[in-house]
Amino acid sequence: MEKETRTPDKYTLLNELARRRGFYWQSYEIYGGASGFPTYGYLGSRLKQNIENKLRDLFVNKLGFMEMESPVITPSMVFEASGHVDHFKEPMVECDKCKKSFRADHLLREFAKMSEAEAEKLSLKELHEAIEKHEIRCPDCHGTFGEPKQFLTMFKTTIGPYSNAIGYGRPEAAQGIFVEFNRLYGMAREKLPFGVLQIGHALRNEISPRQGLLRLREFTIADLEFFFDPDEPDCYLLKDVENSKLQFLLAENKQKESEELTELTIKDALDKGFVKSKWQAVFMAFAQRLLTELGVPSDRQRFIEKLPWERAHYSAQSFDQEVYVERWGWVEVSGHAYRTDYDLKSHMKGSGVDMHVFKEYAEPVETEQEIIKPIMAKLGPAFKGEAAKVADLLSTANATEVASSLKANGYYLLGKHKILAEHIDIRCERIVERGRRFIPHVVEPSFGSDRLFYVVLEYAYNIKEDRAILSFPRDIAPIQVGIYPLVSKDGLPEKTMDLYRALLDEGFTVELDEAGSIGRRYARADEIGVQLGLTVDYDTLKDGTITIRDRDSWRQVRTKIEDLPELLRKYFRRKIEFDDLGQLIEG
Ligand code: GLY
Repeated sequence: MEKETRTPDKYTLLNELARRRGFYWQSYEIYGGASGFPTYGYLGSRLKQNIENKLRDLFVNKLGFMEMESPVITPSMVFEASGHVDHFKEPMVECDKCKKSFRADHLLREFAKMSEAEAEKLSLKELHEAIEKHEIRCPDCHGTFGEPKQFLTMFKTTIGPYSNAIGYGRPEAAQGIFVEFNRLYGMAREKLPFGVLQIGHALRNEISPRQGLLRLREFTIADLEFFFDPDEPDCYLLKDVENSKLQFLLAENKQKESEELTELTIKDALDKGFVKSKWQAVFMAFAQRLLTELGVPSDRQRFIEKLPWERAHYSAQSFDQEVYVERWGWVEVSGHAYRTDYDLKSHMKGSGVDMHVFKEYAEPVETEQEIIKPIMAKLGPAFKGEAAKVADLLSTANATEVASSLKANGYYLLGKHKILAEHIDIRCERIVERGRRFIPHVVEPSFGSDRLFYVVLEYAYNIKEDRAILSFPRDIAPIQVGIYPLVSKDGLPEKTMDLYRALLDEGFTVELDEAGSIGRRYARADEIGVQLGLTVDYDTLKDGTITIRDRDSWRQVRTKIEDLPELLRKYFRRKIEFDDLGQLIEG
C-alpha cells in the first residue's frame, strides 16, 4: 500500500529549522521541556533584538518618545489598584481523569468551531453547558470535564521572606510606566503629549499554551503608553498617515458574526467615528507600516475591533492588529487600546498621589464652580498624620462626584479614606481660572515581540530550487554578511580572516564559513537568512576585488574591498540597492 505523504505546514518546517539552526527551541529540554517558555539561540536572539530595535527606531529615534525599564516583580497593591487582580483571569476546566487543565473558551473554539467573540462572551455556567452540549472531551485522554472556574493568570510570589508581602510577575510593562507618571511628566518638561516605550519581559501563567511562540508564559512585550490631553484637537502625526489604508473588521460586522473586512483610510475611519481617538488611529497606521517593513504585506494584516466583553477592563476601545499565518489563521501581533484616564485615576486612588496635570489657558477664564474646602479641625482628629495629604487630595477631587457620593452613600471613598459630610464644605464660588487641571488620557499600542518574531520567520520562509531560504528584510537579517574563501589554501583563508575582522570592526554582523563546497556554504547561509555572501578568490589576491552574492536573487557583483564598508553601510540602511554594490557578473 502506498504511504500517504503530507507536506508539513510552515509552522512544523520552521520549528524544525529553528531548532536545528539555533533560532529557538523549548526551554529546559534536558528535563523534558516546559510549555510556554522559549529559549532563543544566537541567531534567534539577534533577530529578536533587530525586530525590537525597529520598534525603538520608530518610536524613540523617529518620533522622539522616551524609553524606560522597570522591574518585572511588582508589589500586589499596584495590580490591585490597576484592576488586574480582579480581572486578569481566564476560565479553566480540569479533566476528571488525567487532571490536566485547559482554557474552556479555547476548547470551544478548537472543538466546537466557536468564534472568539462567541466563546469569550459566555459565563462560567454557559461555558459548562456548551462543553457538555458539544461533548468536548480532554484532548489528551478523552476524559470528561468538571465545572469551569476562573484562574488568575498572574504569577504570584512573595517579596523577601515575608509571606504577607505579595508580589506578582507583571503581565504587561504598562503599569511600570503609569506608576512613574509624575517623574516621566517632569522629564517631558511638563508638556503633553508624550510617549514612553518599555520593552521587557512579562509573565502570564497561561493555562495550557499549545501554540509555540504564539502563546507563552514568559515573553517580551513592547508597551508604548502615549499620554495626551483629550480636549486638545491637534494631533500632529495625523498628516503623516491620514491617507494610509487599513483593513478593518469592525464591531458592527463582528456583532453579525461576519468576517467582512472594510478598507478605510485613517481619515475615513476617524470621520465615520469607527475609531474614537486620533492618536489610536495614528498608531494603528504606524503598526501596519512596521509590519509591512518586517515583511508582512498589508493584505495579510487586519485590524479587528474588540467587542465590549472581549476588551481588557481598562479599555474604552480596542483593536487587535492581526496577521495571517498558515497553521493558526489570523493571530494578534499588537493590541491598540484607548485606556483613557483609567490607569492614572486608579493609581491616584490606590496610592493617594495626585497625578493631575495643569494646562494654562491663553487667557484667564472667570466661572462659577463648586469647590471642596477641607475642614482641618475635623480632618485632623479623623486622619491624624495623613490629614494634610487627605486635604490636598480633596481639594483636587471632583466636587460634583463627591457631593453625589455623600448623598447616595453617606461617604466618599478617597483611596482607603472614608470622607464624611462633616469633613468638608462644598460651596459655589466665583473663580478666575488660569488653566485646567485634568488627568491625561492614554492610548496604548502594545506589541508581542515573540509573535512578531514568529510572523517574520513565517513570511521570510520560502523555497527556491528545493532549498529553504529565509528572505528577511535586509535591516533585520540576523547575519548581514557571510564571508567565504573559495578554497582553503594559497593564502585565501588568511585574506578572508583579515576581511572578516575588518568588517566586524566596522560594526557588521559577519559569519565566516570555510567548510565544504562553496555551493553548500551558500545553501547553509541562505537557510538562516544571511543577506550577502562575500567570496574571496584568486582575483582578490591579485586586484583586491571580491564577489558579492545576493541571498534572494542569487545575483553576483564584483567590487573593490576598500569600498566595501561604505557600500555595505549604505546598502543595509536601504540607501542603495544590490546592483549598486558593484559590477554585475553575468551568467
Ligand atoms: N499592555 C498591553 C496588554 O496587556 O496586552
